[in-house]
Amino acid sequence: MLTEQQKVLWEQLRHTLSRDQAIWFAGYVQGIVQPEGMAATLTTQKKLRVFFATETGNSKMIAQQVAKQAKDHGWNASPQSVKKIKQAKELQGDEPIIFITATHGEGEPPEPALAFFELLRQSDVSLKGVKYAMLGLGDSSYPQYNKAARDLDAYMEKLGAERIYERGELDVDFASHYPQWIAGVLSALPSAQPASVPVTVETAAPAGKGYSRLEPVVGRVREIINLNDRGSAKETYHIEIEHDEPLAYAPGDVAGIILPHFAEGVDHLTPRLYSIASSPLAHAGNIHLTVALAWHRCESDEIGYGLCSRYLADLEVGDEVKFFIQRNSLFKLPEDERDIIMIGPGTGIAPFRSFVWERAERGASGRNWLFFGEQHQHCDFLYQAEWIDFVETGALHKIDLAFSRDQEHKVYVQHCLKEKASELLEWVDGGAVIYVCGAKDPMSKDVEQTLLEIFAAKKGSYEAAQEFLDQLHDDNRYVKDVY
Ligand SMILES: Cc1cc2nc3c(=O)[nH]c(=O)nc-3n(C[C@H](O)[C@H](O)[C@H](O)COP(=O)(O)OP(=O)(O)OC[C@H]3O[C@@H](n4cnc5c(N)ncnc54)[C@H](O)[C@@H]3O)c2cc1C
Ligand SMILES: Cc1cc2nc3c(=O)[nH]c(=O)nc-3n(C[C@H](O)[C@H](O)[C@H](O)COP(=O)(O)O)c2cc1C
Repeated sequence: MLTEQQKVLWEQLRHTLSRDQAIWFAGYVQGIVQPEGMAATLTTQKKLRVFFATETGNSKMIAQQVAKQAKDHGWNASPQSVKKIKQAKELQGDEPIIFITATHGEGEPPEPALAFFELLRQSDVSLKGVKYAMLGLGDSSYPQYNKAARDLDAYMEKLGAERIYERGELDVDFASHYPQWIAGVLSALPSAQPASVPVTVETAAPAGKGYSRLEPVVGRVREIINLNDRGSAKETYHIEIEHDEPLAYAPGDVAGIILPHFAEGVDHLTPRLYSIASSPLAHAGNIHLTVALAWHRCESDEIGYGLCSRYLADLEVGDEVKFFIQRNSLFKLPEDERDIIMIGPGTGIAPFRSFVWERAERGASGRNWLFFGEQHQHCDFLYQAEWIDFVETGALHKIDLAFSRDQEHKVYVQHCLKEKASELLEWVDGGAVIYVCGAKDPMSKDVEQTLLEIFAAKKGSYEAAQEFLDQLHDDNRYVKDVY
């Protein structure tokens, strides 16, 4: 078909084309044999809207994969958090939408997406003509499996939008299944690409042994100690679990504990998550947990205990424990030069012990500032000796403590933040990342309120403060891991 000269030219060109260029080229060639005008549409990329709702980063990672793969197939997409959508009518338009949402809490949307879900739930705006697809990330050991994706799908349908591909509901082994869903949805999109380019999506490496409740590993208790001293109302256990598997994790990840069979029938056996308190660099071959024994008063007035924390608190050295690592790609240390502010009362301290050990080991130059709180200094100052050492060696640059019951009036971490407002603002202006870990309610809400007050005093209004905090959140400089 080609002349000799054309063959030579083609051979010369063919080897120099990148994947993107080859796709463009295929579209271009197809375009010039089609009716007039087609070439132009085929060579300019169409816009695809990709929105994610995430708490620990998985949905964001998949949204980025969707955008990357879509680009190869003629679509231009830059993933955004659903948090950016302030009015339902912003969803109107011709550009197809792909939503990727996790479910958290007890069947709730991820925290940053709560306002968006509420907005859509209450809206009566017409989304007729809007084409969309929905991917949910969940864990089938929770009773409300993938509820957020189901809810959002229902809201879109109710508003008249048209689902163009079946809803995906992925479980904890999502890493080996999402490429297939992406390939399917890209094929279902109204054609943006020449039909001759097949839709293929790179397969992500399966998560593997030790990274989901489906494939836990067995470790042994190396050490277990109650960190609270005599006089405390609490029992908080430092538990070291040694393992032979080559498990990789990063500070900020959590461990999922599989309850042993004795508990079967009592509970649906959802694994319980615990922030990892060790550093992979400083404590190779071990993971450390900081576990508060949860208790309640039963109707009979007796004391009852939380299932998993009781199980863990009763472990003895040498006992086996089944666990897995659950990644949190958002709650991560920044580059070594950046300052960090860690707010972690109670067991919220756990990931920060990991952070400081890791940074000390790396010789990170960024400064570390810890806010910790508990009831009494003499018996509840978790890991006191280590923090003192870290201050002495210069690994911890500042520590502020709030012991709520050591004086007449209650003092909490948010009061320390307020007291240190001007220094805190200096750190934040210098690029510091703010981390909050521990109780969602009321701690993390009170801390957020206080941060807003501190920012409002500087920025002149509460609205400006909220905008600033939202921006910090978007930039991964205000990160929470609360429960
Ligand atoms: C991302 C993440 C990180 C976490 N990190 C940590 C950590 O580092 N350290 C930590 O200690 N925890 C952490 N948690 C919390 C932990 O996962 C568990 O939720 C906690 O240990 C309680 O689990 P449990 O099985 O002991 O209690 P459950 O049996 O699940 O009970 C939950 C609560 O209900 C109470 N309860 C149970 N039955 C009754 C009843 N009949 N009437 C009234 N009350 C009742 C229990 O006392 C307990 O307080 C984290 C959670 C998440 C999501
Ligand atoms: C505290 C907590 C609660 C969760 N609750 C649910 C739930 O009710 N239903 C569900 O299907 N998945 C639930 N999950 C599982 C998450 O949806 C799953 O881990 C998902 O991959 C997280 O995605 P993300 O990283 O985008 O936030 C929960 C996870 C956590 C940590």
